[in-house]
Amino acid sequence: MTSAKKHSTPKFTSPFGNLKPADFNRLSQFIYTEFGIHLPEKKLYLVQNRLTKRLRELNMESYTEYADYVLQGNKEEVLKMIEVISTNKTDFFREQRHFDFLSEVIPEKWKGENLKLWSAGCSSGQEVYSLAMLLENFRERNIIGDYQVCGTDVSARVLEQAQLAVYPYKYAEDIPEPYRKKYLLKSKDQTHSKIRIAPNIRKKTCFTWMNLATGMYNFPEDFHMIFCRNTLIYFDLTVQQKVVNGLLEHLLPGGYLFVGHSEALINMNIKGLKLISPSVYQKIEYHE
Ligand SMILES: C[S@@+](CC[C@H](N)C(=O)[O-])C[C@H]1O[C@@H](n2cnc3c(N)ncnc32)[C@H](O)[C@@H]1O
Repeated sequence: MTSAKKHSTPKFTSPFGNLKPADFNRLSQFIYTEFGIHLPEKKLYLVQNRLTKRLRELNMESYTEYADYVLQGNKEEVLKMIEVISTNKTDFFREQRHFDFLSEVIPEKWKGENLKLWSAGCSSGQEVYSLAMLLENFRERNIIGDYQVCGTDVSARVLEQAQLAVYPYKYAEDIPEPYRKKYLLKSKDQTHSKIRIAPNIRKKTCFTWMNLATGMYNFPEDFHMIFCRNTLIYFDLTVQQKVVNGLLEHLLPGGYLFVGHSEALINMNIKGLKLISPSVYQKIEYHE
């Protein structure tokens, strides 16, 4: 098959024409090198679609003009580009099995302890706040001491949303009823109904920009649990391995690493991790 044929044919021509395979190739190569995100050729149309907004805002005429601009090293635009390219789908209490696991294991394993958790690839904060609600519920009953949940992401836009902690009312449907009552504030405006995470939960969280693809993370402390869920899936095996090894360096011995249910760490050369439950790994001692 020739290289031109491997690219998906755009279904619609955008107001800026089509993203040419050559421009897609240089952009996707750059995105892979800088952010580890693997964009196979079949994603050409998706990339074209997502970049349209940037071209419009920059008043540009073609994708070639955009590719030239961003690849000249315009750092601000590089970050804006990654914001539109990355997929930020998330939910409160996503993948319930992990929360069931936590409810069982935390009182047994970490009774009375102060816990630190990291959501790596936290998107707009729902994962961080779900974990914080679960931990706050344990803290209120003196099952654990204090806790902190940190979220990091490569998109400044989603981090802003996370920090604001305001969500459409319908998102609350995913939050268990007892938590909804205790940990959510409701807007008075009935026409634009919104929820906000209560201040006692918000103050236990922090959000920071971080590019996981570097494999080196600057945290002063290590974590009892790290959640890197539905994020590794955007990386290829080489980057996944680098990221998981980097995360492991910040996981306390005996601590847990959670990945998405469809992200088994198979075919990876990673020492010191043991699968203990579906998509939950424990850091174990490893000697050569
Ligand atoms: C699909 S969301 C997953 C959110 C949440 N963990 C969950 O499971 O619901 C993936 C997130 O990973 C982030 N991401 C992608 N590449 C990244 C990178 N190189 N460094 C840090 N975050 C990245 C995206 O911006 C996005 O918000």
